[in-house]
Amino acid sequence: MAASKKKDPNDKSYVRKMFDEISGRYDFLNHSLSCFQDILWRRACCKELRRKRPGKRLLDLCGGTGDFAVTYEQFNGKQDLAILGDFSYGMLKGAEGKRTSAVPIQLDAMKLPFPDKTFDVVLNGFGMRNVPDVKGALQESARVLDDGGYLQILEFFSPRNAFNEFFYKVLAPLFIPVMGAFFSKKDAYEYLVNSVTNFLSVKQFVKVAKKNGFELVHVKPCFFGVAYRVLLRKSSNAMVNTAPEAK
Ligand SMILES: C[S@@+](CC[C@H](N)C(=O)[O-])C[C@H]1O[C@@H](n2cnc3c(N)ncnc32)[C@H](O)[C@@H]1O
Repeated sequence: MAASKKKDPNDKSYVRKMFDEISGRYDFLNHSLSCFQDILWRRACCKELRRKRPGKRLLDLCGGTGDFAVTYEQFNGKQDLAILGDFSYGMLKGAEGKRTSAVPIQLDAMKLPFPDKTFDVVLNGFGMRNVPDVKGALQESARVLDDGGYLQILEFFSPRNAFNEFFYKVLAPLFIPVMGAFFSKKDAYEYLVNSVTNFLSVKQFVKVAKKNGFELVHVKPCFFGVAYRVLLRKSSNAMVNTAPEAK
């Protein structure tokens, strides 16, 4: 019964619909709620990756309106293969007209439609905490990365220090849904705050990544730990599961 369907943040169709609904205002609210810091954080990630001199096959996963792909090409040049992957059609539409060669593809981060070892770099900006199974999403990213390829995560992790506890548990629930209600959809922005406090801490996330195909390159806090840049490298002994799914 569609009408009585509960809003379950673990329900992929709920999350996708929510991003479809806020897509028109996403860029504006993203930049204004972070006081334009998100732009600097993406830049820092892309500059750090430039120093690693990776190959030129890029997947911007959970790429939304494409800002990470745009920034990546700004610092790392035009890619031989660039894909902007997201399951929200509305968010992908928001990338139209932006300066990137990335081809938008509607896809599910849990089941990527690419052969093993297709990419040198996978970016994931603020997407990990929205997927229902972090372990599965990491394994899938490892599978499509070539040996030694990089996974760059930019994410709001569950607060662990006094500053970000205060920010996410006191400040954010007060002003983010109010701004969201004014400019976009209140419950979507309530969801976004809750998705941070319910997510893993950065330490827990790194532990999961190490067990699912990656070694850690570095973790860097952004603005006193409000967000983190986590750079991971596909481990040389990462298992790529190409067997059909067991039922
Ligand atoms: C907070 S937005 C981030 C967008 C962009 N990466 C950025 O840096 O602004 C999260 C994005 O993840 C996408 N997403 C969430 N779960 C997904 C999944 N399972 N598969 C593909 N995309 C997903 C949403 O549609 C949304 O566009």
